[in-house]
Amino acid sequence: MCGIIARVGEGGAVDELLTGLKNLEYRGYDSAGVAIPNGKSIDIRKQEGSVDDLVSAIDGNEPVGNIGIGHTRWSTHGPPTDENAHPHTDCTGSVAVVHNGIIDNHDELRDRLIAEGHEFTSETDTEVVPHLIERHLANGDGPEAAFRSAVDELDGSYALVATVEGGDALYATRNGSPLVLGIDGDRHYLASDVPAFLEFTDDVVYLEDHDVVVLNGDGYTIFDSEGRRLDRPVETVEWSPEDAEKGSYDHFMFKEINEQPVALGQTLSDRFTGDGDVDLGIDPDRYVDVDHVHFVACGTSYHAGLQGTHILTRAGVPASTYRASEFVATPPPLNEDSLVVGVTQSGETADTLEALRVATRRGAKTIAVTNAPGSTAVRETDESIFIRAGPEIGVAATKTFSSQVATLIMFAELITRSMTGSGIEDFEEIVDSLRSLPDAVQRILDTSRAERIARFYAGSEAQFFIGRGGAYPIALEGALKFKEITYEHAEGFAAGELKHGPLALVNADTPVFAVILGPGDEKTIGNVREVQARGAPVIVVAPEGADDALAVADEVLTVPDSHPIVASVLANVQLQLVSYHVAELLSRSIDKPRNLAKSVTVE
Ligand code: F6R
Repeated sequence: MCGIIARVGEGGAVDELLTGLKNLEYRGYDSAGVAIPNGKSIDIRKQEGSVDDLVSAIDGNEPVGNIGIGHTRWSTHGPPTDENAHPHTDCTGSVAVVHNGIIDNHDELRDRLIAEGHEFTSETDTEVVPHLIERHLANGDGPEAAFRSAVDELDGSYALVATVEGGDALYATRNGSPLVLGIDGDRHYLASDVPAFLEFTDDVVYLEDHDVVVLNGDGYTIFDSEGRRLDRPVETVEWSPEDAEKGSYDHFMFKEINEQPVALGQTLSDRFTGDGDVDLGIDPDRYVDVDHVHFVACGTSYHAGLQGTHILTRAGVPASTYRASEFVATPPPLNEDSLVVGVTQSGETADTLEALRVATRRGAKTIAVTNAPGSTAVRETDESIFIRAGPEIGVAATKTFSSQVATLIMFAELITRSMTGSGIEDFEEIVDSLRSLPDAVQRILDTSRAERIARFYAGSEAQFFIGRGGAYPIALEGALKFKEITYEHAEGFAAGELKHGPLALVNADTPVFAVILGPGDEKTIGNVREVQARGAPVIVVAPEGADDALAVADEVLTVPDSHPIVASVLANVQLQLVSYHVAELLSRSIDKPRNLAKSVTVE
């Protein structure tokens, strides 16, 4: 949701800024721009369209200078036009600013600035910031003081980086939107996310809200909001640059689907202790008095959360999963014995963060289940569990979902032990399947018939996905992935609900994917017959040994025999492949689907 990159240090800025923007395009791809001070003025190049369009536009006429800021946009205020593209400037073009987030009081600030004679050229909320800096410079402040004074006037969420003509410095801050500092000897970077500069450095400082950073040729200094110097730890990220590159794959999504055996291996490694217990890096004793587990999440992570509730409920532990935005709208009763678990691969999703804040305000215990060390969710919760899936660049979540579910299975055992004194009854069987999960995923990747099924059904009127119990979240996730990257109509339903309304939509041109994983099989098989009676072809996704389920199918996608809870991850891999191949056949923009961005930092 908007990507920021900035750099200071030896060497030309433009190439690294454009590389950073390309690496950040998963956060927004409506428009892109860079601003590079060249000693005389600030050279700004920005336009509607992709980073590649920007690269072509400046090819042969690159801006010269060794500090600069860049931005790739996902529109919130104003459509994707050249004028609304970042960086934004003041009236004189001597201040340039890039921003991620939303400035809530921009209307009021804009009115005041216009009344004072400032002229605006865009419809964005961001443009108030360079004008505010201009105003404070005109009042005699130096650039750093002018930046601070401007920031003091803002309400809302923001990561901001500014540069001022005539200086050799960048000024940055954050409040509720991510910003990370990268350090490579004399060269320094600021970005919304580590993959932006991972090929330049893996040494990072995760900035905190209200930190103010000043970067120049001498290095970086971090201050708190009162201007006192801060010492933030430098951490080395474990991701390699190749993890965040497409390599020989056509799409990041397909690469990430294929990375799932490795990702799951990382997720599961060193988590089981000798006595059959689970170690997720959290303190189990904190949770002995918990009386209810609430998962809060959005989109794909919400589906992982539903799986968490399924596993806990089945083990006799009270649990619920909420869409984070609805949890905020209507919070359930919470107290110090409530545990609220935010499931968020990015750790930056605004709805989920707000749900966790509501929980904290009401005294609940909080945990983040995330792929992003240093993220806001990690900083704002009591404890964190890392899913260790490695970087995911494709906007559609794939490997992070698998790693989330695998993590939540282990979490369910840990919390069940804490809350009830004994673990999940069949946990040993679940662990056996978990240990085989990476290999089982690899078998699916090597043998899947998903491409053939995609060829057969691409272009259908709609696709439906049904499942019961632990297969229901997979039906929902299958449908979400399908609509997200194919732009075709797809819906997921609880198998038993079909006959209560959705069956009216079913016809011979609406293939139904039935996920059948074990418990409740006969009933779902009955639901399959109901849709077949209306002419719909049914693709059954089921374990190899599930003869009854496979017998009713028009087409089958099998998964290696596993415990049903673990088989849900496998079934989902088959559905990821179907969506991917349909999107490819329809020539969709797979890694950057229409209107979507990864990491949604607005509510
Ligand atoms: C869909 C997808 C989104 C995210 C959702 C939450 O493929 O990726 O639905 O799952 O925006 O994101 P996180 O997990 O970062 O909170």
